[in-house]
Amino acid sequence: MKNFIPVNKPLIHKSDVNSVKKIISSGWISSEGPNVKIFENKFSNYIGHKYGVAVSSGTAALDIAIEVLKLKKGDEIIISNFTIISTILPAIRLGLKIKLVDCNLEDWNMNINQTVKLISKKTKAIIATHIYNYPTRVDILKKICKKKKIFLIEDSSEALGQTIFKKKCGSFGDISTFSFYANKQITTGEGGMITTNNKLFYEKAKEYRNLCFGKKNRFNHNDIGWNYRMTNIQATLGISQLKRINSIIKKRHFVGQTYYKYLSKNKNLFIPPPMNKYSKNIYWVIGVVIKNRKLGLDGKKVMEKLQKFNIGSRPFFWPMHKQDIFKNYTFFKSKKFKKSELISKYGLYLPSSLDLTKTQIKYISNCLNKITSN
Ligand SMILES: Cc1ncc(COP(=O)(O)O)c(C=O)c1O
Repeated sequence: MKNFIPVNKPLIHKSDVNSVKKIISSGWISSEGPNVKIFENKFSNYIGHKYGVAVSSGTAALDIAIEVLKLKKGDEIIISNFTIISTILPAIRLGLKIKLVDCNLEDWNMNINQTVKLISKKTKAIIATHIYNYPTRVDILKKICKKKKIFLIEDSSEALGQTIFKKKCGSFGDISTFSFYANKQITTGEGGMITTNNKLFYEKAKEYRNLCFGKKNRFNHNDIGWNYRMTNIQATLGISQLKRINSIIKKRHFVGQTYYKYLSKNKNLFIPPPMNKYSKNIYWVIGVVIKNRKLGLDGKKVMEKLQKFNIGSRPFFWPMHKQDIFKNYTFFKSKKFKKSELISKYGLYLPSSLDLTKTQIKYISNCLNKITSN
């Protein structure tokens, strides 16, 4: 291929551009504009939660979601070891006792049996993150959390439109979070959302997003908050994109299915299938793992080789227990996270843009099959 195929490219329609142009001309550019509330309502309605709070990123959504639970220093929280660092940072800042869970090899999500085993009397919350492809079994976790009075935070940043037994991801959590970064199902450039059915969480989340301004005296603040507001320009783009969510999901599935067709016969690779018994895979990104260790290839080497064919790719997340910045913390000491270690070393994801053509996908797959042949 003559032209470089990037790992991701946002799909912005003319209608998105027109609606943003119109709102900029109207002067309503900050978070005070009317589209923020409209976006929150439409989005929470789509998820099936009563309330939505639009924020500046998925990371901001997680900061706030954990803050509103009012956990105390030393309370236990269970988090996946194989995820983005945004999940763990608020727990570190609040001085919570973190228990990490290893992932599964087949879907890369947190292992549910291990999660349940880690629950103790001190466990106050679980953050369940949906990773790359299939959703994590929040339907199972929800029942356990309810019984044991543990809060379930559902990080659905990568899973907009994904379902479990036809119920939307993001609708299971006591509080759920989303990201609208440029590579997500819908984008607002940067941005995020919190959704919940809990009115108290909703009210608190709105305050934390907006510096906890005082009620009587605006500049005598109620609490320690952030400026995590979403602008009216971003919300306008979000509304416009959300209108197309069904066709976006269909396209994602098409891209994933097409890759699966070309890559699944390669015995040296693993690519998750398009369906399982509880979910249709909408392939937020096209993740693959090198299975044959005898090839002498890991994710990094394959990425370098793909680059030579003009194909962009990305490594998998770097697991929490291997982060240099956590080396003085004790939460992962003397524990083994073999599966996260394995997939972070041998995993990578391929170009995953919504507008990839069949010809491009075939070309990328052929190159990858060639690179990983023995
Ligand atoms: C699972 C998950 N959670 C949270 C985030 C953070 O979102 P943002 O980049 O909008 O801060 C991401 C970002 O990609 C993510 O993949």
